Amino acid sequence: MSNKRLAKDVFDLRVALGSETRPGAPGSFYHIACGGERLLRRPISVCGAWDDVVRFVYAVRGEGTKWLSGVCSGARLDMLGPLGRGFDLADEPTLLVGGGIGVPPMVFCAERIDAPVHAILGFRDADAVILTGAFASFDLLTDDGSAGDKGYPHEKLRERLAGGEWKNVLACGPRPMLKAVAKVCAEFGVRCQVSMEERMACGVGACLVCACAVGGTYKRVCADGPVFNAEEVDWDV
Ligand SMILES: Cc1cc2nc3c(=O)[nH]c(=O)nc-3n(C[C@H](O)[C@H](O)[C@H](O)COP(=O)(O)OP(=O)(O)OC[C@H]3O[C@@H](n4cnc5c(N)ncnc54)[C@H](O)[C@@H]3O)c2cc1C
Ligand code: FES
Repeated sequence: MSNKRLAKDVFDLRVALGSETRPGAPGSFYHIACGGERLLRRPISVCGAWDDVVRFVYAVRGEGTKWLSGVCSGARLDMLGPLGRGFDLADEPTLLVGGGIGVPPMVFCAERIDAPVHAILGFRDADAVILTGAFASFDLLTDDGSAGDKGYPHEKLRERLAGGEWKNVLACGPRPMLKAVAKVCAEFGVRCQVSMEERMACGVGACLVCACAVGGTYKRVCADGPVFNAEEVDWDV
């Protein structure tokens, strides 16, 4: 339907699905074919869904996402999905922690939780800031202080959890951020779910390329995740 630039190298893609397809739940993703000559699909999280329309927000990182950024309205996309196990949402006061291109799935979570929600959004710098308008209540942080407060999401999370009103934390972003968020949640005894990112091939649990150390074993991010309970992830493996 549309594929618009949202920020430097970040695009907002909206796709009309066939009428028999469910768009997916927060934390699920689609495996998108990015041009016929590229064998491997690219996993992109669902950012929003309405009836048979699904929204993705993605950053141009390499050849596949560059190809995707050139897709025009009216084109047909080859997408496999919705895939993966998403967030287990509870209608309880929830803090959403999003880092960089991990913010899009948090938008979908905010829409689906019927309880107070507050987002803690961290970006590299002012040029990387996206989607703040999608949250009614949020803290904005940048690594260099060029927008919002200077600092990291886990530091703000510690301040927020000290208030005692938040029962759940959902997080998506770079692994070091997720690890720090998991540690802060453990300090406060608050339930935390994290969406993990690993390179993927099949996307449906068959090839084990996306294995990730969880609970003393290896789990497939594409089929067993991408969302896991933070306390089960073996962060140092
Ligand atoms: C579950 C999941 C959800 C994601 N959701 C989003 C999202 O909502 N928005 C967004 O911008 N990005 C998201 N990503 C990251 C996105 O998949 C990669 O940025 C993208 O695959 C890069 O492809 P490329 O061809 O542009 O880059 P290249 O580096 O050229 O890709 C080469 C190969 O590596 C794989 N690859 C590269 N980086 C990653 C990565 N970080 N994760 C997984 N595979 C990778 C590609 O699939 C491809 O097979 C998600 C990743 C996962 C695992
Ligand atoms: S990508 Fe093949 S098992 Fe996960």
